[in-house]
Amino acid sequence: MQQKLYNLIIKRRSIRLFKQRKVPSAVIKKGVNAARLAPCAANLQFLEYLVVKDKLLREKIFTYTRWAGYLYPRRTPPAGMRPTFYVFILMNKEKSQNFDLRDVGAAAENMILTFLEQGVGACWIASLDRKSLGNFLNIPKNYEIDSVIAGGFAAEEPKLEQDAKNIKYWLDKKNRLHVPKRSLKDIIYFDSLTTLQA
Ligand SMILES: Cc1cc2nc3c(=O)[nH]c(=O)nc-3n(C[C@H](O)[C@H](O)[C@H](O)COP(=O)(O)O)c2cc1C
Repeated sequence: MQQKLYNLIIKRRSIRLFKQRKVPSAVIKKGVNAARLAPCAANLQFLEYLVVKDKLLREKIFTYTRWAGYLYPRRTPPAGMRPTFYVFILMNKEKSQNFDLRDVGAAAENMILTFLEQGVGACWIASLDRKSLGNFLNIPKNYEIDSVIAGGFAAEEPKLEQDAKNIKYWLDKKNRLHVPKRSLKDIIYFDSLTTLQA
């Protein structure tokens, strides 16, 4: 049996270094379309998306984002390796007064995986200066910025580290990012939280 989706999920890592080749709008639209169709509580559909490709806008947006906190500032993308597009995830207050952030999670992951399926890397950024971004991008008052997906063709290949004891990602001598994940056996329980093996 083919396991295309599962393989993509395993392969996905946050990408913070990008080639400067442009990503076609059709690729970005497909990602946003996958976000649009994600499950959402009560089907309220309060999420909307602002895509930014313009170079001057991108340069300013970058200054309002913060990258790889555990390695700051070593994994902040340098000029020439920054995202080639951004997709802002906006929450429309006219569609809901009580945003269920699980909706954002489902939509964002749909989008990131759909980008990856098309060969495009991404990093989900929630560490943002929302106030400055709202002003700079003229976001109307009835919207809140949740987060942004920064994307482009990947110029790095972070390595998954299984069975990690420490959760902090690190850089090796060749500047490759290693991303530790807790092991399956440490996080899965069957029938009771005191059961060790299925
Ligand atoms: C809700 C959320 C917010 C995040 N915000 C940031 C961020 O502001 N800056 C950043 O560099 N990475 C950010 N990330 C990426 C995480 O650091 C990354 O997912 C984590 O280190 C695990 O690596 P992986 O995505 O390669 O599995 C965020 C991820 C999520 C899910």
